[in-house]
Amino acid sequence: MSKVFQATASAPVNIACIKYWGKRDTKLILPTNSSLSVTLSQDHLRSTTTSRADPSFAEDTLWLNGKLDEIKPGGRLATCISEMKRLRKELEDANPNAEKFSHWRVHICSHNNFPTAAGLASSASGFAALVYSLAKLYQLPASPKELSLIARQGSGSACRSLLGGFVAWREGAAADGSDSFAEQIASEADWPAMHALVCVVSDDKKDTSSTAGMQRTVETSALFSQRLTVVPERMRAITKAIQNRDFDTFAAITMKDSNQFHAVALDTDPPIFYMNDVSRAIITVVTEYNRVALEKCGKRKAAYTFDAGPNAVIYAPRENMKEIIELIVSYFPQESFNDPFQLFKSAAVQGRR
Ligand code: PMV
Repeated sequence: MSKVFQATASAPVNIACIKYWGKRDTKLILPTNSSLSVTLSQDHLRSTTTSRADPSFAEDTLWLNGKLDEIKPGGRLATCISEMKRLRKELEDANPNAEKFSHWRVHICSHNNFPTAAGLASSASGFAALVYSLAKLYQLPASPKELSLIARQGSGSACRSLLGGFVAWREGAAADGSDSFAEQIASEADWPAMHALVCVVSDDKKDTSSTAGMQRTVETSALFSQRLTVVPERMRAITKAIQNRDFDTFAAITMKDSNQFHAVALDTDPPIFYMNDVSRAIITVVTEYNRVALEKCGKRKAAYTFDAGPNAVIYAPRENMKEIIELIVSYFPQESFNDPFQLFKSAAVQGRR
């Protein structure tokens, strides 16, 4: 029997505090603005991917959550797979002793331990795990930063899931995308008190994919260009806040950026509604909680943020989490939610790879 190669890798989701929304190059997935996120713990929301290369395989094949998924020629999956094969080929060409299997077909099996495409960043963890498992399969010496250049071409936000802690994705300026990668600005150990609470308002698949939504925003929203003028200063200020462990500033910027992203989505034609009434009620509860905290001690105690879906992520220092969980549960008792509402599924903490 001939030799086969196989590797497994997991990657966690990341939730942006400064949102990526808009592409300047749709093929290379180059963003219109830099973004910044927190990578959550692998213990909670993660994708696990096994890749196998075998000379007997007839074609590259992917199973996602147990179901056969299409690998469209020239599509994002195919691009990531062929980029990884190209790196393996380079390694084989440079090293005569390396085993030659870059031309073999691969079978890839990926599984998410949470709802897929429901605005919980499944494409981020999915493409990061895919690229990382292929890097292991092909025994590539590539750094997470280098791999982020490839994961970015699968799903933009995936480039940030290759690193743990607090991660910035620089928009870059090069036409070939070579300077549009993710880098860690602080590790989870630099701010261990930072925790995240994931409130699953709905695990339905979202109506408007982020790819379709972004394109429509770029083409139709007048507010969008205004957003691009404020992001650079937000990036600078939130990076400083993270480095100083200044939660109040971190929270103020995170909530403003989430609100602006959803305002831009609403300004899109036709409008995109990612949040629902429950999402907005969560905003009201967190705002009131912060109003009381600001009155008492002059600082905010929690920050909400929403991606392309109704689910809330609440960032807060660990010491406030018990109070926040009790507050959320008291306003949104699980019984009051009909299926598919299931608020408050998991409390994920800061990330590691
Ligand atoms: O990487 P995509 O195409 O799934 O887009 C992600 C967009 C947001 O989640 C809304 C924002 C972000 O920066 O993660």
